[in-house]
Amino acid sequence: MPSLTDKKIVLGISGGIAAYKSAELARLLMQEGATVQVVMSNAAHQFITPVTMQALTGLPVFSSQWDARVDNNMAHIELSRSADAILIAPTTADLMAKLSLGLADDLITTLCLARTCPLLLVPAMNLQMWQHPATQRSAQRLVKDGITLLGPATGIQACGETGLGRMLEPAEIVEHLCAFFQPKLLQGKRVLITAGPTFEAIDPVRGMTNRSSGKMGFAIAQAALEAGAQVHLIAGPCSLATPLQSGGQIYRTDVTSGQEMHAAVMNSLDCDLFFSVAAVADWTIPNPAKEKIKRSGGTNAAKKSAAPLLQFAANPDILQSVADLANMNKVGRQKTLRPYCVGFAAETAQLEDQASEKRRRKGIPLIVGNLGPATFGSDLNQLIIIDEHGIQRLPRAPKLELARLLIKAVAAKLV
Ligand code: C5P
Repeated sequence: MPSLTDKKIVLGISGGIAAYKSAELARLLMQEGATVQVVMSNAAHQFITPVTMQALTGLPVFSSQWDARVDNNMAHIELSRSADAILIAPTTADLMAKLSLGLADDLITTLCLARTCPLLLVPAMNLQMWQHPATQRSAQRLVKDGITLLGPATGIQACGETGLGRMLEPAEIVEHLCAFFQPKLLQGKRVLITAGPTFEAIDPVRGMTNRSSGKMGFAIAQAALEAGAQVHLIAGPCSLATPLQSGGQIYRTDVTSGQEMHAAVMNSLDCDLFFSVAAVADWTIPNPAKEKIKRSGGTNAAKKSAAPLLQFAANPDILQSVADLANMNKVGRQKTLRPYCVGFAAETAQLEDQASEKRRRKGIPLIVGNLGPATFGSDLNQLIIIDEHGIQRLPRAPKLELARLLIKAVAAKLV
C-alpha cells in the first residue's frame, strides 16, 4: 500500500524559483496516495501558475485569506483543520523569518499559525541568504518550535553559485514525508543492527570478502529510525550513506573484520532488539602476512607458479554469542528475551527448510530468509519471516518497504 494513503497534505508554495519543482512534487505525493491541497503565496504566482497546480491536483488552489469560496470565509482554519501535515516547498528566507516570529499576514502564514498538524518546511534560497545569521536564527527558532526542516541540499543554484541552499529534489521530499508518517512502533527502544560484509585480510593489500552490499541492513536501520528507535548500526566495509535522522537517533560504528564486528556487538548489548543482518565471513586468516605476498617464489619455474597455502580459522558466530546471552537472561523468568534476536539466512536453495533449521540451531525466536544471488546489491528483495507460529511470506518489493514490514512484525513481539 502506498505510504501516504488517506493522508491530506496541504502543499504550500512560496515565491522562489524552485517553485517550478512543486508541480512534480504534487504529482509524486499523489502517486503515494495523498490528497494534495495547494496554497500559494502571491509571489509564487510569478514562478508557477495556480492553473498548473489545480490541473495536477484536481482541487482549487487558494492564495488569499479573503477567498469567498470557503463557506465561512475562514480559509486559514478550514484548510488546516482537515490536514494531516502542511508541507511548504519551496520555503523562502522571507517565509522562514515570518514563521519564526509568528507573523500571519497572508494565507500561508495564517494557516501555519492556526494549524494543529505537523509543519514541514523545505528551504530553497541562494547560498548567502541561507548562511545569513538572520536566516540561521530563523531556522534555529523554527526547529525549537517543533517544526521540521527538510534540507537544504548543496549544489548548483539558479543564481549560478554552488553551495548550500538548493531545495531537496521532489522524490527526496516525498521519501522524507513517507518516513515522517511511519507509526512510531519502536519509540524508546534501542536497536542494534549489523550490516554489510566483513573483510578478512590475507596480507596488507589482499583479503576475502563476500557479495553483501549492506542495503538490507541499512534499510532496516532506516525503518527502525523512522519507527522512533535509537539505532546503533555496526557496518562492515560498504559505501552506503548512514540513513537520515528521522524519528529516532542513529549512531554508526564502522568495522572491517568479523572479529572487530564481534567485539563491537558484544560492547553494545544494552539494547532491546538485535538484527543480525551482516554476512559475517565464516572463516578468517589468523595470521595475515605482514608484507605483500609476492607472486613469484624465485627463479625456478615450478616455484614461480606456486600459489600460497592459506590457513583458515573459524570466525566467532556473533548472532550465536548474543542469542546465548539472551537465552541465559531468560532462564527462570517469564519475560521476553533481551535482546530479542532476529537472524538472517541467505541461502541458494531450500530456503524455508534451511532457515527453519538455522532458527532452531541458533536458539533465536525469529529468522528472516532470502535467496542468495538475487538479493546481493539489489534494491529489491523477497523475504520470508519464520517464528514459532510458522512462515510468513512477504512479496518481492524494495528493501525499505520490506524493512518497514519487518519492523512492524518484530515490534509486535516486544509489547
Ligand atoms: O548460517 P549462518 O551461521 O551463517 O547464519 C546466518 C546468520 O548468522 C546471520 O544472521 C548472520 O548475521 C549471523 N552470523 C553471525 N556471525 C557469523 C556468521 C553468521 O552473526 N560468524
